[in-house]
Amino acid sequence: MTLQKATNITWHHGAIAKADRERLLNQRGVVIWFTGISGSGKSTLAHAVEEELFERGHLSFVLDGDNIRHGLNKNLGFSPEDREENIRRIGEVANLFAQAGLIAMTAFISPYRADRDNARSLLQKGDFIEVFVKVPLGVAEERDPKGLYKKARAGEIKEFTGISAPYEEPLNPELVIDTSELDLAQSAAKVLNYLQDQGIIDKE
Ligand code: ADX
Repeated sequence: MTLQKATNITWHHGAIAKADRERLLNQRGVVIWFTGISGSGKSTLAHAVEEELFERGHLSFVLDGDNIRHGLNKNLGFSPEDREENIRRIGEVANLFAQAGLIAMTAFISPYRADRDNARSLLQKGDFIEVFVKVPLGVAEERDPKGLYKKARAGEIKEFTGISAPYEEPLNPELVIDTSELDLAQSAAKVLNYLQDQGIIDKE
């Protein structure tokens, strides 16, 4: 638990609520939380979903691990504590986006179950969609798009998820997508169908 340092702060309620913004945007504000090891395809999938949503006139935004670590979270590394803080901040930011009425998508390894559950707890039931982007370690290592598995195996990167740091698989994710079995279009369709079925976006 992160300690609240500030005292004498009061919550200010505006006249415009989440539901008002949702009406304006004709969608529900939600968080789609993609989790999985490096090279599983989280970012690729999130961006494919974003493109399809955009085509259909929906507003979304992808928060991506590698990008966020260049800015907001540039002061964090990959120790368990830093990963926890990384995910805590992203959970808060994603929640703000959802309150703004957007479909926020996060693409972070987010290896710890407790941290993901913490992000889930910020939202109303149904507004947090955990997508386990599942792939056998061997496949991710084979893909190795950034050459990081090779470095991790050689001991050049410490605490690398899947090699020398843990990944705790989700127990009850809303969706499981195995990107070694489905291609990108099929994977994106699975997410979009889920959004339709849940009434988050209208059916086409
Ligand atoms: S998380 O564990 O804190 O959720 P995050 O998704 O932000 O990780 O960042 C993971 C990305 O950082 C990986 O895709 C990879 O490109 C890079 N990276 C660098 N070092 C590591 C490491 N030790 N473990 C995992 N990923 C790493």
